[in-house]
Amino acid sequence: MTKNAHDIFVVGLRNAHAMEIQARELLERQSGRLDDYPEVKQKITAHLKETNEQLNRLEQCLEACGEGTSTVKDTTQSVMANVTAMLNATAGDEILKNTFANNAFENFEIAAYKSLIALSEPAGMRGTRALLEASLQEEERMAAWIDGNVEKVTLEFVDHERQAA
Ligand SMILES: [Fe+2]
Repeated sequence: MTKNAHDIFVVGLRNAHAMEIQARELLERQSGRLDDYPEVKQKITAHLKETNEQLNRLEQCLEACGEGTSTVKDTTQSVMANVTAMLNATAGDEILKNTFANNAFENFEIAAYKSLIALSEPAGMRGTRALLEASLQEEERMAAWIDGNVEKVTLEFVDHERQAA
């Protein structure tokens, strides 16, 4: 059975919603464990707030499509399982693994929002575009911050390890 652009858009919105639920879990798990890295903690906490707003926006988009959002929260997206597993590692270099995983996750989110924005017009849902673009900009800002701080966080980790030795 072929799907039209509107159907593809709705599936994409549901997948993005599942993605953001997973993002929220990852950020929540990290935010409680970052006392040694106050700048990272502040960014993660701020992005957690943005993520909740992004979930809200996706729910607004689904409602605009005439779709309910009650079952949306139950969906899972197995494609992110590897990232999650990586975050579960309890190695001493957790801060580094989380930085790499966050970098991957933010770029995954950026691609998902770009795809939804491209679909919004053929789906006949141009009105959702501004909401999706607002979320895309937040993801791009977060991805840029992570990208610009990989080296700094790595050297901070070295410092922490030296002090702990
Ligand atoms: Fe994000």
